[in-house]
Amino acid sequence: MNKTALLLATAIALSPSASWGKEESADARARNTEAAMTAAERENLLHGIMALPVIPGTIIPPDAVIGAGYVEGVSRLGVPSLKESDASLGVAWVSGMRKDGATALPSATAMGAGFDPALVRDASAMIAAEARAKGFNILLAGGINLMRDPRNGRTFEYFAEDPLLSGILGAAAVEGVQSQRVIATVKHFALNAQETGRQVIDVKIGEAAARESDLLAFELAIEKGKPGSVMCAYNKVRGRHACDSEYLLSDVLKRDWRYPGFVMSDWGAVPGVSAMAAGLDQQSGSQTDKQVWFGKPLIDAASADPALQARISDANRRILRSIYAVGLDQPAPAVKIDQAANNALAQRVAERGIVLLRNERNALPLAAKAKTIAVIGGYADMGVMSGGGSSQVHGVDGPAATIPMGGEGPFAFLHSINLHRSPPLAAIRKRAAGAKILYDDGHYIAEAARTAAKADVVILFASQWMMEGYDVPDLSLPDNQDALIAAVAAANPNTVVVLETGGPVLMPWLDKTAAVIEAWYPGAQGGEAIARVLFGEVNPSGKLPISFPASVEQLPRPAIPGWDELDKSFEGTGNEAKKVTVDYDIEGADIGYRWYARKNIKPLFPFGYGLSYTSFAYEKISLRGGNLPSAQVTVRNSGAVAGDEVVALYAVAGPNDPGQRLVGFTRVSLKPGETKRIDVAIEPKLLARWDEAGHRWQIAAGRYELATGPSSDKLTAKASLTLNARTIAQ
Ligand code: GLC
Repeated sequence: MNKTALLLATAIALSPSASWGKEESADARARNTEAAMTAAERENLLHGIMALPVIPGTIIPPDAVIGAGYVEGVSRLGVPSLKESDASLGVAWVSGMRKDGATALPSATAMGAGFDPALVRDASAMIAAEARAKGFNILLAGGINLMRDPRNGRTFEYFAEDPLLSGILGAAAVEGVQSQRVIATVKHFALNAQETGRQVIDVKIGEAAARESDLLAFELAIEKGKPGSVMCAYNKVRGRHACDSEYLLSDVLKRDWRYPGFVMSDWGAVPGVSAMAAGLDQQSGSQTDKQVWFGKPLIDAASADPALQARISDANRRILRSIYAVGLDQPAPAVKIDQAANNALAQRVAERGIVLLRNERNALPLAAKAKTIAVIGGYADMGVMSGGGSSQVHGVDGPAATIPMGGEGPFAFLHSINLHRSPPLAAIRKRAAGAKILYDDGHYIAEAARTAAKADVVILFASQWMMEGYDVPDLSLPDNQDALIAAVAAANPNTVVVLETGGPVLMPWLDKTAAVIEAWYPGAQGGEAIARVLFGEVNPSGKLPISFPASVEQLPRPAIPGWDELDKSFEGTGNEAKKVTVDYDIEGADIGYRWYARKNIKPLFPFGYGLSYTSFAYEKISLRGGNLPSAQVTVRNSGAVAGDEVVALYAVAGPNDPGQRLVGFTRVSLKPGETKRIDVAIEPKLLARWDEAGHRWQIAAGRYELATGPSSDKLTAKASLTLNARTIAQ
């Protein structure tokens, strides 16, 4: 980064960013504290350790809390140490190295399917309150990478394939976490869309494509959520590691978006001292890097470099500003953990995220007349599936079961399937008054088919485990479950499939089944949530936040880039010298439903798809233009039971050829026969295009056609409005 840019970045840091409002006192306090720091104290906040006894030689300070990270504060000046826990789904269990449990939320994908920012905010506040009560003051939540590849092993940690849904829910998660005086992150900045070779993958993407997709999700989440920190990613973008990229960290984040907070690295993502000048403010988990770059090597490099010294001061001010703006230096709000309430909240998230994909012959809700119910497979007698890696959460008693999946090296302990203690079988038994329940674990297909043949209805559980650090090689259900489902459905056509997956899966057996629900990783109360939907206590309202392809051939990249040439271990140790470029310009900003619309491809299930036990009629849509355009959509519950509907509004045509894109959404509850006019706010940036020459968001003058309906490929109500040309201020 040239000296001018460096000084500019520093200058921006000095000028309170009005758009962040009342935190100006935080800016002033940060400047005063930083000015009072000694040179030695300025190093404290710039690097931290992983506060886990997994790397030989780690000395964990006495005031640290066992968890992802610890950064020494400056007690002389009242600057608290930073105690960091993962992540978006609750306070991480770190494979039992913590002895206290926490409430496990459903996957972020389940939260995405709920299209419910208020619920995400409440759920995030709940896990942050638990984090604070355990002594943490930073929660490494806010995973908002777009699901460019549905095989990404961290799909379950992310909200959606769409930038608006991801950005809005990401902002809600940040607001919830920070309401508890806990700094939230948004991560992993940016374009971290696969786990295979995550440390070396080099992303190629054009400016407008990046700005209108992955960067837009971060821009919206940061603008609306005001996270204290942004975590930069492992991968490279245009040849530079994200944590060493002045394009991402200084040009886009700090200059264009005027971000006043601080950038922390991912753990083991810092390539060297140069990252400070590029815009990185804090090296996290320094034992996982080759050196504590932001310790002596940086201080030595700055000794004769005033610009670097100024950058170091700016980095300290940014960290201090976030500490003050979020209130880490204030006593934590007194929190008494109400486990029953926290479980109920986790359950509500799961229930709202469950997507009804198929329901033939009204197989669901389960009829009270069912005399014999077969429950088969998916560990249904033990618990529900959860995702592996740094985000893994468990309750006080740990997982219901742990199934080792191999793996080598210091992080092999992460490589296991862990089930949450919420067995669907028990929850079904509780509700199937009088019916005879037959259980079969599904390991022997012929036996499972025989069990199925004896029942009035079969509830067949199928799971797809995912884990950080690894992508799934394809979208088929593992462990021969497709064959199990086909055999069971052949033995009994009244088969209801319950999927507990990290992301989309193929369904070669679909037409042979009566019903299918996608329950994702349903969290600490998942079994209860699934049973309540199956028995109709809850009317499913989830909508797919990610398209389900009909085959991997439909994807922009049928093969995962680097799959054959990269070391696919968790650490990816053999990859250092390898160069693998992934070309996101193939789809550009047209991820998921936008890709299918552009290529005229029919996926298995489209973005926004989700059935209900009732039906909804989209009767009218009226639009209002101006600088804050909005829509009013008239929706009627045309069925016989109450239910929630997600009203999703898309731009489908415009003068600047935006292609189809989600521009707004709102949930609504409707009683049978009830009609409501729903206001849907339209995010102007989704009507705009990124003007590369002008380096700005530009709305073109002309007519825009907007539409809404039951899913992204079924838009039944259309209207248009005329907008004047204008630039959207960043
Ligand atoms: C991990 C993840 C990141 C997590 C961090 C701390 O490798 O990429 O999401 O917050 O390290 O565990």
